[in-house]
Amino acid sequence: MTAARRPLIAGNWKMNGLTADGLALARSLAAAPEGVAELLVCPPATLLAPVASALSGSRVALGGQDCHAEEAGAHTGDISAGMLADAGCSHVITGHSERRANHGETDAVVRAKAAAAHRAGLVAIVCVGETEAERDAGEAEAVVAASLLGSLPAGARPGNTVVAYEPVWAIGTGRTPTVDDVVAVHAALRAALGDRGEAMRILYGGSVKPDNAAALLAPYDVDGALVGGASLSAADFLAIAGAA
Ligand code: 13P
Repeated sequence: MTAARRPLIAGNWKMNGLTADGLALARSLAAAPEGVAELLVCPPATLLAPVASALSGSRVALGGQDCHAEEAGAHTGDISAGMLADAGCSHVITGHSERRANHGETDAVVRAKAAAAHRAGLVAIVCVGETEAERDAGEAEAVVAASLLGSLPAGARPGNTVVAYEPVWAIGTGRTPTVDDVVAVHAALRAALGDRGEAMRILYGGSVKPDNAAALLAPYDVDGALVGGASLSAADFLAIAGAA
């Protein structure tokens, strides 16, 4: 990575943790000394308020895992971007593959959610990734570049948007692409971003662990990681951050 793009190590806790676990994890992270990378955690919505208190004054920022495209209204169970900001969030993940697969979110839906995040003053972490069949067909770069362009709202710029490349087949599987494959996709995404590409951060996500983080984070085009399972351990998450 380059000094112009500060690395971001983001933890996506997904649907894990009750108050006691979340607070213990947040307190361990809050005690971490200053480092090169920016740190972010995205707990489940029920833990946003207690984790916000635990992280207060620390170097670790808070994010949501999803938001609704509208600001308020009759949307039972949903959370707006403004509500996330109100709870202390600075970021929100949009278009995670689990949302796309389990909730039918299309690029257009993701684009509307990212636009809502921007209106609320949040940084949108826009996720894209290919399936194993798409990779086997040699379509990974084309698929993710098209998905990214379809998922970015008009106002997306480096200050309000982070891209996360998460191959669907690498999430929670212990498998990762080769570093060369990651670099090829990140370069394709950066090229697709045009003028915004040089300054916009592009994270890699999918089975990032302490033992593979240094290799995956070393290339110029990899600006950090979106970490799932390993972000549930403070030691593992901070080891990954230390590799950035
Ligand atoms: P794992 O790190 O558990 O593979 O999850 C990656 C991910 O989906 C982060 O958003």
